[in-house]
Amino acid sequence: MNNQIETVLNYHNRTKHRLERYAKGPESIDWEDQPDQFRHFSGCEIVTLPKPGREIEVLFSALDAPETLAAQPLTMANIGLLLELSFGLSAWKQFGPSRWALRCNPSSGNLHPTEAYIISSGLETLKAGVYHYVSHDHTLEQRCRFSDNVTETSLLIGLSSVHWREAWKYGERAFRYCQHDLGHAIGALRYATATLGWSIELMAETSDDDIAQLLGLNRLADFKALEGESPDLLCRIRVGLDNKAFDINELIAATQAGVWSGKADSLRAYHLYKWSVIDEVALAASKPSTKEPVWQALQSSPLTTACMQTATAIIRQRRSAQQFDGKMTPMSQADFYRILSAVLPTSPAFQAWRWPAKIHLFIFVHRVEGVTPGVYALPRHQEALEKLKASSLETFKWERIAKELPLYHLYSGDCRQFAKTLSCHQPIASDSAFSLGMVAEFNDTVNEAAWLYRRLFWETGLIGQVLYLEAEAAGYRGTGIGCFFDDSVHELLGFKETQFQSLYHFTIGKPLEDKRIETLPAYEHLEKS
Ligand SMILES: Cc1cc2nc3c(=O)[nH]c(=O)nc-3n(C[C@H](O)[C@H](O)[C@H](O)COP(=O)(O)O)c2cc1C
Repeated sequence: MNNQIETVLNYHNRTKHRLERYAKGPESIDWEDQPDQFRHFSGCEIVTLPKPGREIEVLFSALDAPETLAAQPLTMANIGLLLELSFGLSAWKQFGPSRWALRCNPSSGNLHPTEAYIISSGLETLKAGVYHYVSHDHTLEQRCRFSDNVTETSLLIGLSSVHWREAWKYGERAFRYCQHDLGHAIGALRYATATLGWSIELMAETSDDDIAQLLGLNRLADFKALEGESPDLLCRIRVGLDNKAFDINELIAATQAGVWSGKADSLRAYHLYKWSVIDEVALAASKPSTKEPVWQALQSSPLTTACMQTATAIIRQRRSAQQFDGKMTPMSQADFYRILSAVLPTSPAFQAWRWPAKIHLFIFVHRVEGVTPGVYALPRHQEALEKLKASSLETFKWERIAKELPLYHLYSGDCRQFAKTLSCHQPIASDSAFSLGMVAEFNDTVNEAAWLYRRLFWETGLIGQVLYLEAEAAGYRGTGIGCFFDDSVHELLGFKETQFQSLYHFTIGKPLEDKRIETLPAYEHLEKS
């Protein structure tokens, strides 16, 4: 085993929450000291994007057949809408003197470690350069200006993470949450591009060093110590049938020769705790340049949805449920099956995911009409079925219960208490219609390459984003659950080795609203200023 893989496996093990003790985190938190969620680079030219809040008359259900949607033109208005629907604000919440923003992409603890950039070259609408998106102001900060003579015509999105934003609250486990958030960001981008009749290509061959060069993250003097950004992913926006091969080296050369401006403002917080294991795992899991498959899973539409709302409405109304009604409203079987069908790798939401699925669902059904409460499994590809059977509890029945889905009944019984206990005693895991654990093909994947550890979490985040939006579309609400007792989950399911590991939990049901919390419009502050 090489050192990088060992570091990653050690990290994973030491950041497991256990019933008797949580993974190492800060002993006390000063809420006044929370790192600024919104990064600004001072000294850049600012490009104001067209007014946010525009609706497009594309139904959410139409995203089941994205190839039938007409591509919108690549205008500034549409680039702005893409960024807003992916990373922009969706509302402000107010409770007494506290006021906080929510965004279209969710984030563990609402800390938002993910930063988004766009790179424009050869476009008429936006001068060639690298721009940082400021979701609060809905503006672009031009970090780099480079020659208009670059031959590649494209719009790229770059994503990075400020690990410390998350570690400030969650300590050592935070690196995992940053990766989940990145997966949610990929999902958010997928829905936003599909709404515009566009698509995203994950440019997964690119090394982290190249991404750092392209986004200016390697310009260490532009960032305050400990507040730098780690490169994560580059995506290409495809408008219409743009199948041209893309040479990234020309763009890298352009940014090397470009004129950079701006310095990241301080995130205004005191670095009381330092989490060196995060720096170590980030280094060990950094990605070299690789060859990746031109993967295209067989696409098929998920089961039909009755949702008649537009995609823009569903994306903007997405929230995390804080509480569920617990007893009253069961979920219909049709809604349950539709939601699960949308997370299969053949569903269009996974069109951009170039690799065979590595994540499978173990579902705790509490209240679904016509589905006996108990434990179920949804292997996301057929070959995993036998391995999952062989590795999980011998007493599991593995009875397929639906012809339209690879959904297997394992155990009948009331799972509410253990679902809640396993998810760090959170009632959202038991008061919902169902909750679930996302189980990864862990050992084989991480033993192939250390950086694949991150990609496993991205896949769970992408599934999570699909679940969030599907829940809204069906009239329910979901919540991602990053806090769970890892090995207790494995014990319950019968996993003895680390061949399979649960990486993320999720829950969906009828939400209870806290009427004391006021909801305010996302971008009213722009009209006032
Ligand atoms: C990776 C991840 C893990 C999360 N874990 C939990 C959790 O354990 N418990 C919880 O109540 N909410 C959890 N959430 C929900 C976040 O707190 C929520 O997304 C954030 O406060 C922003 O609110 P919004 O989703 O309504 O925009 C999680 C969200 C994500 C993306």
